[in-house]
Amino acid sequence: MLIKTFVLTPFQQNTRVLSCARTRKAICIDPGEPSAEVVEYIRKNDLELQAIVITHGHLDHCGGVTALAARFPEAEIVLHRDEMHLYEKLAQQPSLMGIMPDQARAMGMEYEDPPQPTRFVEDGEVLEIGDLRFLVRHVPGHTLGHIVLAEQSEKSVFTGDCLFSGSIGRTDLPGGNYDQLLTSIKEKVLTLGDDFTVYCGHGPETTIERERTMNPFLTGQYRL
Ligand SMILES: [Fe+2]
Repeated sequence: MLIKTFVLTPFQQNTRVLSCARTRKAICIDPGEPSAEVVEYIRKNDLELQAIVITHGHLDHCGGVTALAARFPEAEIVLHRDEMHLYEKLAQQPSLMGIMPDQARAMGMEYEDPPQPTRFVEDGEVLEIGDLRFLVRHVPGHTLGHIVLAEQSEKSVFTGDCLFSGSIGRTDLPGGNYDQLLTSIKEKVLTLGDDFTVYCGHGPETTIERERTMNPFLTGQYRL
């Protein structure tokens, strides 16, 4: 698997293009904003973009779906059904977050309504992309319909805003639930195995072992 990360948006979100080295089939996880760099990477490397996968519907994770889907109309648009309430309100998200319209414009956060998803995924489903098999796990807590994608043979998991290096996703936004997030991480992410590399939605990569043993939210060192 080839992994290319683009750090986009004022929130420094990790947009990733993952591709099968043999077949050149690819997915983009969480296109945060329109990006010529992402499009060029896909084109220059002869990748066949099969899907745009959205871990969750916050603007810094799906603000680039409209532009990317326009360039690659054959790509599926994939998310969990429980995330539609956020995804559909992309255009309203800046004002719901207290960002004034002129501020939003300056930050590149003016959105039109995004295209309709072409596929909803559930916990346990597998997305096949060339030789890669991404297991979907539903991990509510940061948002209601948040998903992570785990590629078993590559020992890699893409966690969006569920789990970070040394931290976890915030739970103070609508749909957030601290206890539920901890349960999701413990049952759906840590169980993948210590040797998995964790590719987070923000910040550096880490491993399951490191988070299981050192993340203060998971070790019980930090409690709300
Ligand atoms: Fe988020």
